[in-house]
Amino acid sequence: MSDAALACRDLRKIYLQGRVEVPVLLGINLSIAKGEHIAIVGSSGSGKSTLLHLLGGLDAATSGEVVIGGRNIHALDEAERGELRNRQLGFVYQFHHLLPEFSAIENVAMPLLIRRMLPEEANARAVEMLGKVGLAHRLEHAPSELSGGERQRVAIARALITNPSCVLADEPTGNLDRQTASEVFELMLELNRAFNTSLVIATHDGALAARASRILRLVDGVLQQS
Ligand SMILES: Nc1ncnc2c1ncn2[C@@H]1O[C@H](COP(=O)(O)OP(=O)(O)OP(=O)(O)O)[C@@H](O)[C@H]1O
Ligand SMILES: [Mg+2]
Repeated sequence: MSDAALACRDLRKIYLQGRVEVPVLLGINLSIAKGEHIAIVGSSGSGKSTLLHLLGGLDAATSGEVVIGGRNIHALDEAERGELRNRQLGFVYQFHHLLPEFSAIENVAMPLLIRRMLPEEANARAVEMLGKVGLAHRLEHAPSELSGGERQRVAIARALITNPSCVLADEPTGNLDRQTASEVFELMLELNRAFNTSLVIATHDGALAARASRILRLVDGVLQQS
């Protein structure tokens, strides 16, 4: 488990809604090797987003452990956890979550600026990464001036700019048409191969899931091999 890019042990999540307990994850065990590509499938409400949030340290589990790059995130304080997230992980959300006031370059450079890289170098790297996702001609566009597929490609560039060991993607192509979804997905796979980045993708799309090296299904709060 320690040499995995990302792992969890007996992870449980029970939401509290007022006094009502909403059990969602009931003991998840998972170890994601470097470069591995895993699809997480399961019906709506089965807990896929919840699991990705816990794995990414964005939300706290009720119990269990998450280990990112060999470090148990529960042993860290908030600042250290943020640092580890920034160093090791990339996130791609179903709805891109780009900063609306900022250009494509600025959005992609942001994680590097957070690391206190000099703006000049951060921008140069952002330009290079935007070129890789086919957006060299849209560098100065704000998110509202981009198409859905272009926004998603900016989001992927932003997730990969820090060369994370693992990318967590929640329905990354969910709001795109079939053709664009397939192109965006191909791009993620290419970058995954080029950088040996582990990829965890939650998706409803059986065709996309079928291309992963492993498919895991969330059923009744646990993961089943599929
Ligand atoms: N903050 C919360 N409080 C209470 N219940 C919650 C909360 N967040 C999520 N849930 C419940 O947890 C369950 C799992 O939600 P989650 O978003 O992880 O599902 P999902 O598998 O990602 O679904 P979808 O495929 O629709 O995106 C759902 O039944 C949801 O209603
Ligand atoms: Mg979800």
